[in-house]
Amino acid sequence: MKKSQIITTVYEYNSVDELSQSEQNLVKEAKEAALRSYSPYSEFKVGAAVLLENNEIIQGNNQENSAYPSGLCAERVAIFYANSMFPNVPVKAIAITSKTNGSFLDTPVPPCGSCRQVLLETEDRYEQAIKLILCGEKKIKIIESCKEMLPLYFEKDMLDGK
Ligand code: THU
Repeated sequence: MKKSQIITTVYEYNSVDELSQSEQNLVKEAKEAALRSYSPYSEFKVGAAVLLENNEIIQGNNQENSAYPSGLCAERVAIFYANSMFPNVPVKAIAITSKTNGSFLDTPVPPCGSCRQVLLETEDRYEQAIKLILCGEKKIKIIESCKEMLPLYFEKDMLDGK
């Protein structure tokens, strides 16, 4: 038996002012996107902003449905839209914010498992890490690659029996 450990590195900040100008701008775009979320069932508004290699920024927010599972998270709305509009442009970063009861959450909300898997596919597709900027009002967490958030992930090579 061999025991191994998987370590995730998280950079924590107490204020957006500590982020670079480009990161701050991405957070602003994610917050803006959250305000347009369609979430009448959970009343939990999530906003995402994706920064592409060509400096385009694509916003997305969660879209809910009365048949609950038919809705989609903000991260996937943003990343799928980015990939559909710019299929040849790598994704550099994604900022994520959440708002409920009238205010943005103090703590950063990480993407759900399905969103992590989708972000990971995009990392593999462009062979480039996507920086995650998880933004709360009192804490910001930055993770340099989605792979760090989804250890033991399923990847395309496995389909070929590798
Ligand atoms: N949600 C997201 O948009 N992103 C996540 O990573 C987690 C959850 C949305 C889905 C649903 O509309 C609401 O938040 C409550 O789960």
